Amino acid sequence: MAYSLLLDCDPGLDDALALLLAHGDPDIQLVGVTTVGGNVGLAHTTRNALQLREYLGFPEVPVAAGASQPLTREAVNAAHVHGEGGLGNVTLPEATLPLSEQHAADFIIETLRASPGAVHLVATGPLTNIAIALEREPAIARWAASFTIMGGSYTRGNATPAAEFNILADPEAAKIVFDADWQVVMIGLDLTLQAQANSIVVDRLKALGALADELIVPLATFYFNPKVPDWDGQAVHDVCAVAYVARPDLFSMRPARVDIETRGEFTTGMTVVDFDPLVPNALIATKIDVNGFWAYVESVYAKVAAART
Ligand code: BDR
Ligand code: CA
Repeated sequence: MAYSLLLDCDPGLDDALALLLAHGDPDIQLVGVTTVGGNVGLAHTTRNALQLREYLGFPEVPVAAGASQPLTREAVNAAHVHGEGGLGNVTLPEATLPLSEQHAADFIIETLRASPGAVHLVATGPLTNIAIALEREPAIARWAASFTIMGGSYTRGNATPAAEFNILADPEAAKIVFDADWQVVMIGLDLTLQAQANSIVVDRLKALGALADELIVPLATFYFNPKVPDWDGQAVHDVCAVAYVARPDLFSMRPARVDIETRGEFTTGMTVVDFDPLVPNALIATKIDVNGFWAYVESVYAKVAAART
């Protein structure tokens, strides 16, 4: 089975690991990468995407930059998690290939328009580009083969007690996206925190040689803090969203209605989830086969590592 996938992202440690998965899985055809300001500013997320494209070796895939700011708010970032440049301690060679001249939103529209029903759209950053694309062309909601986000949660936040970072960063965009005429596949914190890169996983990844030394392990361990309760290892949130497209069999899903809190004093950015809705607008991942997930991810990373030697 081959899946065409367009990744909208803010690399970002785990976005970079998600990009590696999308590039490396032979069942996934990566058709574009769009960037948004989020974990760090747009200049950094775009530079990182361009550098990753050349380092990993998918020069034919367009990279298009999008929104540097949320729709209406001041930008927030997560540089304290991802490092000032967004990729922790990883330093990659400067890119030489050009950025697409299109805005990310237009690239998304044109890519989905060109192949209706064929391209799976995945968003692993704030939802600003997707909201702009929906406002410019609502039909993308029909054209996308599926739409999956890493974002939100139904129990807790990480950026605040109530809100997950990607939703908090641009709640107005998230509201537009969840209110659009499609089913949002929500891979939230409740799911991603089940599949942390613990020491057993990291030891196995270390066996992948130079790719692991230079990229995978530094990305997967940069902000791990063993003193944080419930942290067995660093979460690789965005990897789970890409994995869902190719391996939905690894996930347990429940239909739900998700509304976005945009005005709460303490709850702005919260995904308010009703698992017994009259009209569902989302499919929420509740459980992941952790061993199956890591076996899949490791096998894909191993293919990329082998192809580089
Ligand atoms: C999400 O926020 C970002 O920091 C990560 O890249 C991920 O997309 C986790 O809350
Ligand atoms: Ca991200």
